[in-house]
Amino acid sequence: MRYLIGIDLGTTGTKTVLFDEDGNTISSSTVEYPMSQPKNGWAEQDPALWYDAAVKTLKAVTADIDTSKIAGIGIAGQMHSLVMLDEDNNVIRPAILWCDGRTTKECREITERVGYDKLIEITANPALEGFTASKILWVRNNEPENYARCRHILLPKDYIRYRLTGAFATEVSDASGMQLLDIKNRCWSDEILKLLDIDKSLLAPVYESPEITGYVTEEMAKLTGVPAGTPVVGGAGDNAAAAVGTGVVEEGKAFATIGTSGVVFAHTNEMHVDPKGRVHTFCCAVPGQWHVMGVTLAAGQSLKWFRNNLCTAEIAEAEEKGVDPYYIMDKEAEQSPVGCNRLIFLPYLMGERTPHLDPDCRGAFIGLSAMHTRSDMIRAVMEGVVYSLRDCTEILKEMGVASDNIAACGGGGTSPLWRSMIADTFNMKVTTVTSKEGPALGVAILAGVGAGIYPSVQEACKKVVKTKTEQMPDAEAHEKYEVQYGLYTKLYPALKDAYKELAKA
Ligand code: XUL
Repeated sequence: MRYLIGIDLGTTGTKTVLFDEDGNTISSSTVEYPMSQPKNGWAEQDPALWYDAAVKTLKAVTADIDTSKIAGIGIAGQMHSLVMLDEDNNVIRPAILWCDGRTTKECREITERVGYDKLIEITANPALEGFTASKILWVRNNEPENYARCRHILLPKDYIRYRLTGAFATEVSDASGMQLLDIKNRCWSDEILKLLDIDKSLLAPVYESPEITGYVTEEMAKLTGVPAGTPVVGGAGDNAAAAVGTGVVEEGKAFATIGTSGVVFAHTNEMHVDPKGRVHTFCCAVPGQWHVMGVTLAAGQSLKWFRNNLCTAEIAEAEEKGVDPYYIMDKEAEQSPVGCNRLIFLPYLMGERTPHLDPDCRGAFIGLSAMHTRSDMIRAVMEGVVYSLRDCTEILKEMGVASDNIAACGGGGTSPLWRSMIADTFNMKVTTVTSKEGPALGVAILAGVGAGIYPSVQEACKKVVKTKTEQMPDAEAHEKYEVQYGLYTKLYPALKDAYKELAKA
């Protein structure tokens, strides 16, 4: 039995998993790192953290195995974040991350230079703060000396690919989020690059996700334990990778994930675009196909923020009992009823993409009373994230790409409470698959296709991805959530102007 490796380069850490070719986890290793927020609304990370984490985790998963059986590596990565290298291939400045909202002015510049209709026609999306193009323009406008030194523009996982193989390469799913790709034709758009005055030679060649892009070098073999010459395939953006890892590779299938961000993702054989730009249309990891996804920026991050700042007692209790603090927090949230005794949380800690496209909005507890407890507040955070995911599904429904059941994955997908909230709020069957490694499994599958172990992504998923649990919605709870969600949808419009003023204060 051969092995496949999936590296999942996330925002809170990098997780590397060694699988056998049936998709069973043989070993896994995670290294966590921080995200820095030099200003309100900014988010950065040093690519050296990702590199160190990739080396350490690869070394850990290859330590006790016959490494000659490793058939390939796939890398999944946080999308959109901008990495710039100089002529010696050194990192120029910290990466500007997907959840950084500093580029509103540059988004206007992109729309003016390209025109709204052409942007939608070619890149399938309006100019967004989260996407890479506006980050490139921000560096050009604000740090011209850094821009002048830039010779390579890469996405996070493509930086790790470069370090592992020496090859500059990207692939269609992640490149879609740069806003420089012709989404229909799956290649860089010369027209967009010309209008934005970005030199194409800064960008790496674009592959389909299962294609081989390079081979592990001798030097990296010594550092990681992975044999030199091991193929590294295109891989995928973390969401496109999670789709493969949950078997969402055919029309009519969808998943919801709660990681740092939250996403509702629907696979499509044809390209579908929301003319209002509230959800993203990108190439998916299945060659020649696409997906539509809504993104809420602070999903798991909202609960993590609450844990880090307000749950010292839960963290201590978890340490004492040897369990995860989120487990204790879940139990506490279960003490509060649906609706949290009339408390609603808006999860806009990093601004919001779907459906508001507003970098200036921020989080809020609405309805806070002296009777509320931490249980109510934890539950309100969890419910708020689910309402925000429901916003995404409403748009997918409007576009006719919704499914009648949904796979749950990501850290949040492992919480039974969060899963039942999704089932009851969406009024949909929620499934989980046996492997909890979503994106890492997804890119390992892509590596298996590239290495010739599986004939295609779809065939691989049929063999490897198996449904584990199914949760049906509860009609009574659904009725209650429907009332709360109705109220939730009224809050952003009511606060919108105040958010704008606050952003200028
Ligand atoms: C997707 C997005 C996030 C990141 C998280 O558009 O910005 O889901 O990929 O890593």
